[in-house]
Amino acid sequence: MTSPLLKYDASAAKDYLNNGRLDELRSAIEEARDETLNDIPLWQSGDKVPKEKDPLDAGFIQWPEELLLNLKEQGDNSLVARIERCAARLRETADSVVVLGIGGSYMGMRAMFEALNNPFHNEQSREQRQGVPRIYFEGWNVDSDNQKALLDLLDARAAAAADSSESAGRTAVIVISKSGGTLETATAFRNFRALLERRFGGDVQQLIVPVTGDTGRLRDLSNDAKFEDVFSIPDGIGGRFSVLTPVGLLPAAVAGIDIRSLLQGAADMTEHFRSAGYGNNAVLDYTAVSHAFEIDQGMTTRILSTWGCKLEAIGLWYDQLLSESLGKHELGATPLTVVNTRDLHSRGQQHQEGRRDKLITNVLPGQTSSEPLTLPGRDDDFDQLNKFADYKLPRILQAAIDGTNKAYADDNRPTADISLPAINAHTVGQLFQMLMLATVVEGRLVRTNPYGQPGVEAYKKNMNAFLAKS
Ligand code: PA5
Repeated sequence: MTSPLLKYDASAAKDYLNNGRLDELRSAIEEARDETLNDIPLWQSGDKVPKEKDPLDAGFIQWPEELLLNLKEQGDNSLVARIERCAARLRETADSVVVLGIGGSYMGMRAMFEALNNPFHNEQSREQRQGVPRIYFEGWNVDSDNQKALLDLLDARAAAAADSSESAGRTAVIVISKSGGTLETATAFRNFRALLERRFGGDVQQLIVPVTGDTGRLRDLSNDAKFEDVFSIPDGIGGRFSVLTPVGLLPAAVAGIDIRSLLQGAADMTEHFRSAGYGNNAVLDYTAVSHAFEIDQGMTTRILSTWGCKLEAIGLWYDQLLSESLGKHELGATPLTVVNTRDLHSRGQQHQEGRRDKLITNVLPGQTSSEPLTLPGRDDDFDQLNKFADYKLPRILQAAIDGTNKAYADDNRPTADISLPAINAHTVGQLFQMLMLATVVEGRLVRTNPYGQPGVEAYKKNMNAFLAKS
């Protein structure tokens, strides 16, 4: 399935910038795009990269195109086909799949699942789910109660279904860690592996699928344990840029998401990034507007204002992407995701009347995925809503969007829009790639290496030291 490209529109914000400011930025932004694209051959050459560019994880830019080409040329032997085969196998053999991972090895998958699956997926019958297993996420915290609750639930399901059909009550685990040593994921994996070994004994090699880098403890285990499937996280693609590698694609395929469309959406966005002119290029324009407001007007808080529950986890994925990529050298805007209309009743007050340090970018969902609900009329009109009777819910949502934007505009607060034609695999692929590319372009623009996250190491080092002491 393909959709038109998403649109970025900052016309409501531009007037708040000095006249000609965006034109002034054009050459710097275009240079940053060229540098972003020129990083690809530099990375591919394997030559030593200059210190200020190390690490250089530019592999994500061409990856979707490469994978689609690989599919075209290799067919059943391609990586996409291998992922789809493994996903089909897991769907048949397990009724629950636990995805273990944290940070870049977790957030993108969660974003896809929430955007593209039925919000009550896990509560549906297997038939309603069309054979797609229930999907759970763990290993993204060290929360004993949470982990135990899930282990107990899966254990009870296994016990209840002990004598029934193949997949009922069976759990599979996809364990994702590029380094293979992240403590949160590794501790969870021990517990879930133990559950699988106890309940499904000889079948664990089929029920555990590691997704990991070429070296590390998880890779060593994968080599030794002879799991039926093991997937590699390609070198040169950093954790938070890895959503369209097996890290996200395998769980997405298990969840029944069309991974070819995801990749196509991302590839279409890369092509748009390369070829569309400044002023008409979602990646460049988003970067320019966000940068100009930050530098000129101190708008150091970037609000991703998502209009619909399905988009929240994409916002949280972006929070990580922007924070870890540009939050360095005491610089970098602070991302904040809100879900409206929910958060109009919580953060909305501050966004309307608080400090003028916020640039609000709406993410608009486009067409609903199912037939829109209608507000029913009632003879008693007890709540006096009959004046809106027969209105579709999207019409009511649109009034909220327009009303909110107008309220901000009336108080001279800028907003911009990212409009999706609809939420589907193709547009989610586009959105991921747009935001990843924009983050890298901005990094090049402000001379912050967008790759790597050296600051994350500090807590890990201390955590290990405290564990060793106790
Ligand atoms: O962006 C990143 O690289 C990080 O967020 C990592 O994804 C996260 O720390 C998890 O690392 P790993 O996949 O090695 O377990």
